[in-house]
Amino acid sequence: MKFRINRRDWNKNKCFFPFTLILFILAIHWATFFGSSLQLGKFHIDITSRLQTEHCSTWLSRNNNLSILPNFIQNTDVFLTIEGGWWYKPNYLHHSLPYGIKGNEVVVKKILARTQFNMPKEIDRLNCKRCVIVGNGNTLRNSSLGETINKYDVVIRLNNAPVRGYEKDVGNKTTLRIFYPESTIEDPTVENNLDTLFVLVPFKAADINWLKAIVYNETRITTGFWKRPAFVKNLDPAKVRILNPYFMYQAATKLLDQPNMIKRRGNHPTTGFLAITLGLNYCDEVDVAGFGYPLNQKDGRIHYFDRLSMKQMANSVHNVTHEHLFLKKLKNAGVIKCLT
Ligand SMILES: *[C@@H]1O[C@H](CO)[C@@H](O)[C@H](O)[C@H]1NC(C)=O
Ligand SMILES: *[C@@H]1O[C@H](CO)[C@@H](O)[C@H](O)[C@H]1NC(C)=O
Ligand SMILES: *[C@@H]1O[C@H](CO)[C@@H](O)[C@H](O)[C@H]1NC(C)=O
Ligand SMILES: *[C@@H]1O[C@H](CO)[C@@H](O)[C@H](O)[C@H]1NC(C)=O
Repeated sequence: MKFRINRRDWNKNKCFFPFTLILFILAIHWATFFGSSLQLGKFHIDITSRLQTEHCSTWLSRNNNLSILPNFIQNTDVFLTIEGGWWYKPNYLHHSLPYGIKGNEVVVKKILARTQFNMPKEIDRLNCKRCVIVGNGNTLRNSSLGETINKYDVVIRLNNAPVRGYEKDVGNKTTLRIFYPESTIEDPTVENNLDTLFVLVPFKAADINWLKAIVYNETRITTGFWKRPAFVKNLDPAKVRILNPYFMYQAATKLLDQPNMIKRRGNHPTTGFLAITLGLNYCDEVDVAGFGYPLNQKDGRIHYFDRLSMKQMANSVHNVTHEHLFLKKLKNAGVIKCLT
């Protein structure tokens, strides 16, 4: 069976709406979920049947307006690798964190000497890589998307998003867990699979030093964070990866078209946006779920896993309209698809 996008279903699908008032708490990097309320219907069923077919509708072929991604250069090196002399090439790594690794080359090299830097071979060799990025949004609650999510080749989860107890709605497969130190939990094996890869997004030097201490079982770094990281145990170095800072660079300068981000401190693309950027580089199909704010309801829950509401996050907020507008454009052009 061939998969076709039904335009009407797209219009009904409210992921990433509305954008004008979107706010989020920068400090907690909560913007791993965008948009508003959830609608399931035919669209959901279409996705399920598509996953069972051989047909690959790559995002590039679906993209009916290429001008949305004018300067997009695909880079399939998802992780920093020690191969190929990366410390003097390519150029983008010459930026400071989080857009490059300038000043942290030595520590990064040490980490890479202990960890690995490949995607699992069984995924790498797929002709059609189908990826889903599972955000933490409340739109996943009662969504019954668990089985659908589990069928993707690559399931990307963000930060400390739990799985146990929510399997019916969010699935229980995790290929990549994208995180930074402040978002970790003590025992990373609890909410992940045996083969889950733990992918650090290095925002600052402390993040790199923290990872090195874990990988080498040294005294933990506890200063330099905006929230004290959990004392992470059982993190198998063979499962640790460092996200290629190219995605941060590309997200800021090419996708969001905000070259100033690189000069200013503090206002970086969010982990959710980075995960989508990773998807566009590595995956043939990029679907997203759980990217949503209950913007129309003050008491609306934010996450699928706790009771935090819009009211509680009303105080320290920061405007990321830009990210949301861009994701909406991607959605409207058929580049990414929303399951919720
Ligand atoms: C394609 O996108 C550009 C810029 O986003 C816009 O100006 C143009 O009208 C779009 N074309 C179509 C056919 O949607
Ligand atoms: C989810 O389902 C439970 C029980 O079936 C119900 O009590 C709850 O209101 C539902 N939540 C949402 C957000 O629909
Ligand atoms: C996920 O859940 C299914 C069904 O409950 C189970 O068979 C499978 O072993 C689980 N997988 C993992 C990795 O926990
Ligand atoms: C890590 O170091 C602690 C003490 O510093 C030691 O008890 C523990 O066995 C070490 N773990 C590994 C995996 O080497």
